Amino acid sequence: MPEEIIIYGYFWIAFKKKDYVNCIPDETGMMIESQAYTEIVSACDAFQRDRRLESLIGLIPQARLYDYGFRSLVGPLEATRARIWEACGRFQGDEKWCVRQVLDQLDELDMLRQLEVPNDFRAITVHFAFYHKALSSIRANLERACASSEYGLDKILWKFNQAMESVTASNGVYVASWNDLEDWRVLHIPDVGLEVVKLIYANRHSLNLATIPNKVSPHKHSNTSEIHFSLEPTDGDEIVGRYRVRVAEPYAVPIRPGDWHAYEQNKNSRPHKLFFLTGSPQLLGWGIVNDRTVTESSKLTLTSLGQGQIQKVGGVLLERAIQDAESQVTNKVFEKELISSSSTDGLTLSVVAIPDSWSDSSPDAIHLVTRGAGELSVLNNRTRVKEGDVFAIPFCMACELQNETGGPLVLLSSILKNS
Ligand SMILES: [Fe+2]
Repeated sequence: MPEEIIIYGYFWIAFKKKDYVNCIPDETGMMIESQAYTEIVSACDAFQRDRRLESLIGLIPQARLYDYGFRSLVGPLEATRARIWEACGRFQGDEKWCVRQVLDQLDELDMLRQLEVPNDFRAITVHFAFYHKALSSIRANLERACASSEYGLDKILWKFNQAMESVTASNGVYVASWNDLEDWRVLHIPDVGLEVVKLIYANRHSLNLATIPNKVSPHKHSNTSEIHFSLEPTDGDEIVGRYRVRVAEPYAVPIRPGDWHAYEQNKNSRPHKLFFLTGSPQLLGWGIVNDRTVTESSKLTLTSLGQGQIQKVGGVLLERAIQDAESQVTNKVFEKELISSSSTDGLTLSVVAIPDSWSDSSPDAIHLVTRGAGELSVLNNRTRVKEGDVFAIPFCMACELQNETGGPLVLLSSILKNS
């Protein structure tokens, strides 16, 4: 039986088995609901009764946008789970039962992330329906536990509500910011010795930010492609394949599956902020499947390169590439691919400089604003974006960006191509 049918089957059984209504004292009070959200909830309910698709068709694009937004909450929801686990031993009675329910439901949402958001009715009847019911139930259980708890669940509930509203209040156009990171969202990854914030998850690739005080140990992935890049001044060694590249300014390097990679010898007084795009058609974004092997650089035979030789590993000095794009833009949008899919076996990185406005319908794209600010429109939903913001646009969906600043609005954009 195809794997997809087995996984969808699991969710259908879980869906039917759980008495969510008992977990939701007041469904109408959940989250911030727009008319669009309420309409899709009603369509889900109707489908449960009559199994007809007609009323769903026009709602699929908007539902997919919500699905993408909820999918990108992987970081906040993992942080919620970790905080509850830390406090779990202190709960008793009713509050203990409620937090156990919350942990189970977070586990089920984690499983849902192993499925790509489809472009058909299942975007509503499986993905949206499951996110809506599970997230509503988590909130109801946290509220019930808070009512009888003395152990600081209020803060967890408040953060959870904030995360939900970052999706629902914008009709699914979820925007994360790497400039404004809270300690609460940081995940500790002990085997490679670093801290990570999961920023955005598209269907098959993701953008994450690691904070590295000194080094991240060399490791390689069996199936996953990566692009490492920095946006701040740096002073250390980036290891890629057989090379150790000295880097003293913002850079980007491609990493194929099977290539050793690391960052070492940080000489900066501040931790190195390393962005990593990671993806695989089979294994999806980072952390969904762990396919890494870890070693020590003393066990590798590496050739040293100066940063002027970064092209030898397929890399680019990023700040210079961004400035170059800014200087070349006229009254037309300037786009340039900096890292090609052939150098990573899948992922790309491009710079886009926008003088006035830009329309894009790239497949499954992740965008990071590196200069300026503007208005992002997707399916008539509008939101403001500024330097440091990150967002993902589902495949088969167009977005428009209107520049609202004097200079060009500049993006770094990434897609994952089938290799
Ligand atoms: Fe890696």
